[in-house]
Amino acid sequence: MAPESSILELDRVTGGYGGAEIIHEVSVRVAPAEVVVLIGPNGAGKSSVMNAVLGRLRVDGGRIRLAGRDITGAPPEQVVRRGVCYVPQTENVFPNLSVNENLEMGAYIRTDDFQPRIEEMYDLFPPLAERRRAPAGTLSGGQRQMVAIAKALMVDPVVLLLDEPTAGLSPRVRGDIFRVVSEINARGVPILMVEQNAKQAIAIADRGYVLVDGRNRLEGTGAGLLADPDVGATFLGGGGDSRVDAPAGEAGDAGSHSENRRGEVGMQGGEGRHDADPEPEAPAPGSGADASDGRETAKPGTGAPTGNPGAGRP
Ligand SMILES: Nc1ncnc2c1ncn2[C@@H]1O[C@H](COP(=O)(O)OP(=O)(O)OP(=O)(O)O)[C@@H](O)[C@H]1O
Ligand SMILES: [Mg+2]
Repeated sequence: MAPESSILELDRVTGGYGGAEIIHEVSVRVAPAEVVVLIGPNGAGKSSVMNAVLGRLRVDGGRIRLAGRDITGAPPEQVVRRGVCYVPQTENVFPNLSVNENLEMGAYIRTDDFQPRIEEMYDLFPPLAERRRAPAGTLSGGQRQMVAIAKALMVDPVVLLLDEPTAGLSPRVRGDIFRVVSEINARGVPILMVEQNAKQAIAIADRGYVLVDGRNRLEGTGAGLLADPDVGATFLGGGGDSRVDAPAGEAGDAGSHSENRRGEVGMQGGEGRHDADPEPEAPAPGSGADASDGRETAKPGTGAPTGNPGAGRP
């Protein structure tokens, strides 16, 4: 696909923090209708790729384009205003604010009436509607992740970046999150997602990239990566890592509550225990560019209520 048709494109990007170079000539692209997954071992540079897009990594070489426009080296607030919505790996909600207040914080750059958008988010995440007055810190891990995603979606994303949205969640709750990711994409939002739960993530992705030691190692369609013996051996075989052990089919299983290592239960399943919430960094960014292309593509896991996240943008 030609670069012009990519919503987001990293073209041989090299960069790092301080003196260190962390990513080396990394190329990743996301087309308008795609879910693209970025997988790789811990420390491979996956979050750094997102930081490069967000203007939080020093870029020494290569170009980054958003909807055909060069954003290489643009400061974070500009990237956000151009429509890059981001859900960080950790510290992604304000634990002391209510669910509703978190959503309001997500709309901080909007100057119009965002109440319809809040209702749209409750429609997309029904469990949150019942907890809208509860402090986000009292929610289960899965519900908090939904708050983080909903907060990012309070502005219209040109592209949504999700950094490990299912980390620490039980297989069943992971399935809930992946279904929501598919639904958001089906509503017209391109998504770049870092994931450790590679098999489930690849199952809902159009394409994926494997990053190792800050370099592109492999790329392919979801089906191609699932069938690739290297990917299978390295990332999908389980190997004692419970984060990669869930079969893809499990994503659709809404059966009995399964507890994860932290004892969380499913998003419909009441109050799971969770780790202490650190204080959040900045509110999830977002912006006002129009990304809605109205496409309707059937994908595994799609099944949430329909709607248009493009509605009510600033
Ligand atoms: N702010 C920072 N300053 C300096 N080095 C950093 C910073 N953030 C990450 N690094 C280093 O960059 C490398 C890549 O880290 P990064 O967080 O991008 O990896 P990752 O693939 O997201 O890993 P994980 O799966 O653990 O989240 C690591 O060696 C890490 O220690
Ligand atoms: Mg990371």
